Amino acid sequence: MVKESDFNISEDEVRELEEGEILVAIKFLSLDPALRGWMNEGTTYIKGVEIGAVMRCFAAGEIIQSKNSNHPVGGHVSGLLGAQSYSISDGQGLANCDLEKGPLTWHLGVLGMPGMTAYFGLLEKGKPQAGETVFISGAAGIVGSTVGQIAKIKGCMVRGTAGSAEKGKYLTEECGFDAAINYKEEDVSAALSKHAPNGVHVFYDNVGGPLLDTALMHLGRGARVVICGAISQYNNKPMYGPSNYMKIVTARGHINGIIVFDYIKEYPKAINEISTWLNEGKMKTKEHKVNGIDNFPEAITMLFTGKNFGKLLLEV
Ligand SMILES: NC(=O)c1ccc[n+]([C@@H]2O[C@H](COP(=O)([O-])OP(=O)(O)OC[C@H]3O[C@@H](n4cnc5c(N)ncnc54)[C@H](OP(=O)(O)O)[C@@H]3O)[C@@H](O)[C@H]2O)c1
Repeated sequence: MVKESDFNISEDEVRELEEGEILVAIKFLSLDPALRGWMNEGTTYIKGVEIGAVMRCFAAGEIIQSKNSNHPVGGHVSGLLGAQSYSISDGQGLANCDLEKGPLTWHLGVLGMPGMTAYFGLLEKGKPQAGETVFISGAAGIVGSTVGQIAKIKGCMVRGTAGSAEKGKYLTEECGFDAAINYKEEDVSAALSKHAPNGVHVFYDNVGGPLLDTALMHLGRGARVVICGAISQYNNKPMYGPSNYMKIVTARGHINGIIVFDYIKEYPKAINEISTWLNEGKMKTKEHKVNGIDNFPEAITMLFTGKNFGKLLLEV
């Protein structure tokens, strides 16, 4: 688990900009489960953060100085700006935030990296068809709740797990889920037998571990399993692996992993579509804000204890 002593909070002078650079005053940091993986040694899909370096983190803010004609002062950008109050960037890899599509915070959530993960993970890897049953673990999070609402828009029946009655109520009463399963109190397998009697056609997994094993036993024929994350296992070594994987054989199923960055060129299409759904009232999003950069380490732990309810953001 992340500890306060894993981080130092330090102050430096903001240096003069060089040609091509911009200075961003960061307004919000995005607390994502991926931060935990980036703190491990070695390289996965991206290199681990070196000891002593600024912690890698998605953030969004306003450009307050610019020597880059593509990014004028007053514009808003998001990207891997780091866990800091001000960030100097050459603009590479930053997204311009169109505030007409939604507030700045949405560009870190439903219109940002997690929303893109939901959109491309579900549509490109899960390939849901109208009338199919979609089951989502970690459904009350920003990725899971967005996946479920897109699946509903596509005409699917949607079930998901969440860690409290309040989160389950949000899923069924506000996000249009057909059923929510409280995995801390209910027998998930029995609940799936009840809510998905004909099997799960798309399982979108954010949690991994024993929950993945349980879901495998309920796959319908030709099911697609999307491995998006395994938040239950990020602090474990070794991670719990599935033992029910032979169900993939008998169900003639597929397991696919998704890394959202593979779809960067297609983000504008997804941002347009999701912002239209949001602005037409067909989709909702929820945010959970904490304040102050000093609270960064503690805020990360909220993701692993379920204390966040909605996209977790730190207001700088
Ligand atoms: N592959 C990619 O490109 C990509 C990109 C973005 C995110 N992801 C993954 O997507 C998943 C969801 O991310 P998110 O941003 O939407 O996070 P999130 O759901 O907003 O926050 C994490 C939630 O996970 C649940 N959780 C924590 N520990 C758990 C455990 N041991 N068992 C079951 N549930 C647990 C908690 O909700 P409860 O109260 O319900 O327990 C917690 O609120 C993560 O696994 C993340 O790594 C992958």
